[in-house]
Amino acid sequence: MQWAMPQASAPSALFHSDATYMITGGLGGIGLVLARWLIEQGARHLVLTGRRSLDKIASATTDEALEALRATGAHVDYYSLDVSHREQIEELISEIEEKLPPLRGIFHAAGVVNGSVLLQATDEQFQQVAAPKIAGSWNLHMLTQHIDLDYFVLFSSAATLLGSPGQGNYVAANAFLDALARYRQAQGLAALSINWGSWAEVGLAAAQANRGDRLAERGLTSFTPAEAMATLERLLQCDVAQVGVMPFDAQRWQQFYPGARIPYLSMLVQPADTETAAPSLREELLAVPAGRRRRTLLETYLREQVAQVLRYPAAQIAVDVPFATMGFDSLMAVEFANRVSTDSTLPMAATLIWTYPTVEALAVYLAERMGVSLDEEATAAQAASSSSTVQPSVVGEGLDDLLTRIAGLSDNEIGNLLERTTRL
Ligand SMILES: NC(=O)c1ccc[n+]([C@@H]2O[C@H](COP(=O)([O-])OP(=O)(O)OC[C@H]3O[C@@H](n4cnc5c(N)ncnc54)[C@H](OP(=O)(O)O)[C@@H]3O)[C@@H](O)[C@H]2O)c1
Repeated sequence: MQWAMPQASAPSALFHSDATYMITGGLGGIGLVLARWLIEQGARHLVLTGRRSLDKIASATTDEALEALRATGAHVDYYSLDVSHREQIEELISEIEEKLPPLRGIFHAAGVVNGSVLLQATDEQFQQVAAPKIAGSWNLHMLTQHIDLDYFVLFSSAATLLGSPGQGNYVAANAFLDALARYRQAQGLAALSINWGSWAEVGLAAAQANRGDRLAERGLTSFTPAEAMATLERLLQCDVAQVGVMPFDAQRWQQFYPGARIPYLSMLVQPADTETAAPSLREELLAVPAGRRRRTLLETYLREQVAQVLRYPAAQIAVDVPFATMGFDSLMAVEFANRVSTDSTLPMAATLIWTYPTVEALAVYLAERMGVSLDEEATAAQAASSSSTVQPSVVGEGLDDLLTRIAGLSDNEIGNLLERTTRL
């Protein structure tokens, strides 16, 4: 990667050349973008922090980036410290007060991601993710209250607004930042927590293979660092404690996570247009005769879902090969269950692929849940008996209707129904 300072633009009034600005996580992907932007905007004294010492980072990219920042004539210091250690922040603040122009802004971008589904999460993982966000932001808050800051900007995440499977610790840690910003604002202190969506090109999200594609598929597309900085410039001029920044298709998100009902998203989601709505999975299955064709259609649907989650061609997914051998991890299992749940409009457990371990087995289960027969003979038998008995449970039927119908059944009809149910 090449680092070069962009053309200097006219400094805005947002930053002062005789003030110091601190960026925690300053040598991270976002930290460096921010440092370059602050200098472009007129800042001349930056303090960047991170836990690792420069010789430990030992990356040509970082050296080049620091050199490029300093080549502008700006004074850029790097301090190796852990923001979650109070005494280290205390020492840093004293040193800034002693040696540098007055501290006027803090940009808290230190952060770590180390997620797993909650059942497998460990205390250590939680601590690791919480430390820079919770202890770190609190230290910065407590130790700078005597300073008249223009900015106290916390780099929070959209995960806190939308949820993020397998990132409970990260969501909780960022939620603390949001609450702290509101608390500070109530105290009359500078505060802004930004729930960033996914950054392209730099940082944590861009470093994870396929993450951008997966999120985009769900309606959360990423934005460039330049777009982020343009947005930040506007936000620094607004009197707001917390704001989400993300290109976001709420409709798509809700389709993907039908179980995640987030009340404020209802304001962004248009009610479904029933006239033009695509046929549901169940309708598609019922449109072909029961038997081999219908079974193949359902199995093909499942193979496509597996293929999309695993990023394989569907042709490589055999119907009788166990999911467990295909490379699913727990998050992929959740994603797969969500897809099936959305398309069938039925809740599905995240353990779906472990309980029904092949496409073949899952197709039988799913057909049963949707009240769709895969079996030609069963359909014929059902049709013959339907005039004298009740239909099997109807998907989508309201519970009240169902109870009324059950209450109206004769003993004979109940007997027939029980017999059929035990045969299924
Ligand atoms: N990238 C995104 O799309 C995105 C989206 C939403 C929110 N965010 C938030 O934006 C911030 C920056 O993210 P990024 O993508 O730039 O991540 P990054 O490239 O991993 O940078 C994070 C930096 O934080 C430093 N750090 C971690 N723990 C620390 C601690 N206890 N004390 C001091 N420094 C610490 C790390 O350096 P050391 O390892 O040397 O300590 C690292 O340089 C994070 O808080 C992240 O949660 C990012």
